[in-house]
Amino acid sequence: MSVFSEAELLLDVRGLNVDYEADNGTVHAVKDVSFTLKRGEILGLAGESGCGKSTLAFGVARLLRPPAITTAGEVIYYPRDREESSLTHMHNLPVVDGGVDVLSLTQRQLRAFRWNELSVVFQSAMNALNPVLSVGSQIIDVLKTHWPGKGRDYYTKRAIELLDLVNIAPDRLKSYPHELSGGMRQRVVIAIAMALRPELIIMDEPTTALDVVVQREILELISSLCKEFNTALIFITHDLSLLLELSDNIAIMYAGQMIEKATSYDIYKHPRHPYSYGLLHAFPTLHGEQRKIAGIPGAPPDLRTLPPSCAFNPRCPMAFGPCSTIVPLLQLATPGDRQQVACHLYNHEFSQRIPETEEIAASYEALAEGSISR
Ligand SMILES: Nc1ncnc2c1ncn2[C@@H]1O[C@H](COP(=O)(O)OP(=O)(O)OP(=O)(O)O)[C@@H](O)[C@H]1O
Ligand SMILES: [Mg+2]
Repeated sequence: MSVFSEAELLLDVRGLNVDYEADNGTVHAVKDVSFTLKRGEILGLAGESGCGKSTLAFGVARLLRPPAITTAGEVIYYPRDREESSLTHMHNLPVVDGGVDVLSLTQRQLRAFRWNELSVVFQSAMNALNPVLSVGSQIIDVLKTHWPGKGRDYYTKRAIELLDLVNIAPDRLKSYPHELSGGMRQRVVIAIAMALRPELIIMDEPTTALDVVVQREILELISSLCKEFNTALIFITHDLSLLLELSDNIAIMYAGQMIEKATSYDIYKHPRHPYSYGLLHAFPTLHGEQRKIAGIPGAPPDLRTLPPSCAFNPRCPMAFGPCSTIVPLLQLATPGDRQQVACHLYNHEFSQRIPETEEIAASYEALAEGSISR
């Protein structure tokens, strides 16, 4: 049976759990996370520091190192049959539900999967370039390793095309990383990530070290390249406002769980989870009149000792009865809706009526004024 497919679905992550085994206890960094990604979809992944964003992304890309252990779940990838990918010529790929079973790939298969199918741009990526090699030789190295035997002219031509994609002049091929600005280095890293035309790119806080103007240029570049090549993107940041314009969909994590997933428009217009509201309004947004709150009071919980309740309960201005005793699961906020939320306010067993966004806003204000307490 072939694992290759032209259908829309690219990635299906089901019930992924990742732990870190530490001396003082097991850190449950990713807890039962499920989501799907379509070809060409831009998914923003947001949440406070330490909520498990990088661990989730690394788990999907099989980049986790000990003491991390994937204890449960499946990552299913649906490749297209295409000349550029060495996965296309590979036999005995592990299969689950008609796709590639990423968590069972051998090391050799993983090498074909990475770069060809999926590339990752890390946090502080612009410092990831090798300082003693020219930009051109670093791009050509990647091309040669994965597409060997093509001849020097081919690689140089392709490297020039890649630099052109990210608006860098061909004479920069000979430049060393220290001769480029931070923004240019970041664009070179993006060119390298796109070099083998992967179907999926994961970017983990790629722009945090850049000033806001350059950051914006880079985001626009990433977005236009992904649209041009129909490349799917998982873009990670703790700054939700950055994602609103870039992403088709946004997933929000809290304490290792995905607590809301919806279109950017829906998250912006009516975040359902009180945490999403807090995160959205804790940052000054790029556009529109916004209510600004003074951050979310309190701190995220210890991931070693999560209670069997909603992890956000101790900080939540809307918490009620079941929040302290039952873990909410990610489900549709309302029937027929596409917005998914893990919150008892949307569970008709516990709640008679869905709260308006205004009510969530008012509850944060009441908390700040001290008229309610947590
Ligand atoms: N090697 C490790 N050993 C033990 N715990 C770890 C290790 N790496 C990460 N963790 C813990 O796992 C949790 C998730 O970390 P992760 O780096 O995925 O969060 P993040 O959302 O990417 O945060 P940030 O926004 O700061 O990058 C955190 O509580 C972190 O302390
Ligand atoms: Mg991280």
